[in-house]
Amino acid sequence: MKNFIEHGTSYEYLEPFCLSLEKLQEVSARLKRDFSRGLGKHSHHKAPVKMLPTFVRATPDGTEKGDFLALDLGGTNFRVLHVRVVEEQQKVLKMDSQICAIPQDMMLGTGEQLFDHIAACLSDFLVSQDLKGQTLPLGFTFSFPCEQKEIDKSILIRWTKGFNCSGVEGKDVVKLLKEAIHRRGDYDIGSVAMVNDTVGTMMSCGYRDQSCEIGMIIGTGTNACYMEEMKNVKRVEGEDGRMCINTEWGGFGDDGSLKDIQTEFDRVVDKMSINTGVHTFEKMISGMYLGEIVRLVLVKLTEDKLLFKGQSSEALKTPGRFETKFISEIEEQDNGLENAQNILTKLGLKWELVDSRVVRLVCDTISSRSARLCAAALATIANRIRVNRGLDHLKTTVGVDGTVYRKHPNFSDELKATVRLLAPECDITFLVSEDGSGKGAAMVTAVAQRLALQSRLLEDSDGESDEEEEEDK
Ligand code: GLC
Repeated sequence: MKNFIEHGTSYEYLEPFCLSLEKLQEVSARLKRDFSRGLGKHSHHKAPVKMLPTFVRATPDGTEKGDFLALDLGGTNFRVLHVRVVEEQQKVLKMDSQICAIPQDMMLGTGEQLFDHIAACLSDFLVSQDLKGQTLPLGFTFSFPCEQKEIDKSILIRWTKGFNCSGVEGKDVVKLLKEAIHRRGDYDIGSVAMVNDTVGTMMSCGYRDQSCEIGMIIGTGTNACYMEEMKNVKRVEGEDGRMCINTEWGGFGDDGSLKDIQTEFDRVVDKMSINTGVHTFEKMISGMYLGEIVRLVLVKLTEDKLLFKGQSSEALKTPGRFETKFISEIEEQDNGLENAQNILTKLGLKWELVDSRVVRLVCDTISSRSARLCAAALATIANRIRVNRGLDHLKTTVGVDGTVYRKHPNFSDELKATVRLLAPECDITFLVSEDGSGKGAAMVTAVAQRLALQSRLLEDSDGESDEEEEEDK
């Protein structure tokens, strides 16, 4: 902040983005309360953080195997994959994959169009892989909040990120996919497992490190899942074992609980978005919004003649033109300033050295807030797992993915350093997931198959003993 004052500009613009450790602790305490509300039977329906049961009851144990299809919808592109899980080598192999673009108008069109498009892409892929005659089990990574009734029944609560297709909210996504496949009638699929990307991420890391029980995404959107004790999952029957909970922490603050830390710029971003009032926390953190927050701050500084001698440009005034990836480029250690200058030139701005320095500071302040808020949320989960298990000290692993985490030069360092301060009794290892949405989805499907097989075997043996008892009578 000192630099900023030296640059002769006002501190007051960026100060609201700088959250003290005490404030972050407060945020974490509020999220802790919201976790309990989300899990509770009676408090759930009003809870902003949904804490959705995923029906994933175990992480991989290394005995999973087989061939799977995976679909991945929820980031920038739609992907279809063929994945092989090899038991002996403890490996998940991506055999092949294909990316299909989802045009912008389809993201805002009808659900039927969207699912027909998905079914068509899958058909092309099966032909290209010579897999059309087979009915492979399919893992469907669908990265939106869904109320899961079973592993293969998943009702979309609401669209987030850039999607808003009609006729899908409140419907079972597996059914919509199957109907689209039946409309074509040229192929079939086996059993389906629905997977949130956080869950896929946790599971893909779980194969490498069996203490991985948290999955976190900081990309277009942000979210996390973790293994919760069944006895705390009040909305699902059963007391034993654990179940993975998709927190949907992006919705934190939707009841106004983050008002004190929201800036005027956050409020504009929310108002201009296609889902105003929804996913407040996500809008302060994730890749879909960070660039826009920076742009709004730059516009304000320019209007107040603290940047570019008060001269703006058409590009700077246009929503979406300051891309989130610019932030990473501008914050690069060695070439950051030069990158900033090139970007400002491309945006049609006339800059001086001091302008590029201020722009860099704005980027740093906003990405830093994002990392620290994520840290507060992650610390809440780690502390919860530790307390759940009655431990003084927890050692755990989090599987992570997402462009912001991967691409930003110091986001992950800041996140880790802040989590250490906020969860001092937790020793967290971070594993970057290798394709959680693809391989991880296959892994969820494989684990579901293993558990189904085990429970069938168990039922069969129960059945036998029942018969024996019958005969004995
Ligand atoms: C959004 C979605 C959530 C997903 C996250 C990351 O927050 O609601 O389901 O996990 O984005 O992609």
